[in-house]
Amino acid sequence: MVPSNEDQPGAESGDLIGPDWHDLGLLSDIQIGHATYAEVAGRGVCVARASESDVVIFDDACPHAGASLAGGRVYDQCLVCPWHAWEFRLSDGKCPDNEVITVRKHECRVVDGHVLCRLNGTDSGPTDPRARF
Ligand code: FES
Repeated sequence: MVPSNEDQPGAESGDLIGPDWHDLGLLSDIQIGHATYAEVAGRGVCVARASESDVVIFDDACPHAGASLAGGRVYDQCLVCPWHAWEFRLSDGKCPDNEVITVRKHECRVVDGHVLCRLNGTDSGPTDPRARF
């Protein structure tokens, strides 16, 4: 899950914030078990909060039919899509029923109560997810 500032021995807040990290706002603004939408460098992402300190960031578009995963809920260590209930494991973004199906996971840290994101991958994100399945 997300390493907090306290998880980094000897780390100061400034040590964890680099030029590729984007501040997505306060962790406390996201209810536990819920997710919210954000944009990072023009890319839609979903910030899902599993517990008091565990947060994950995925691409927002569901790989099934493109629903916004930010409208989903966290259940049993998975993010559940709001449209057809496909599940994506918080640990790796894979669908437990078919691990070929994956939603891209991005790097996430919580520093001084703020959720920070660094994008993985450099493409422009999913185009038409229906074309892949
Ligand atoms: S759009 Fe996400 S499960 Fe169908």
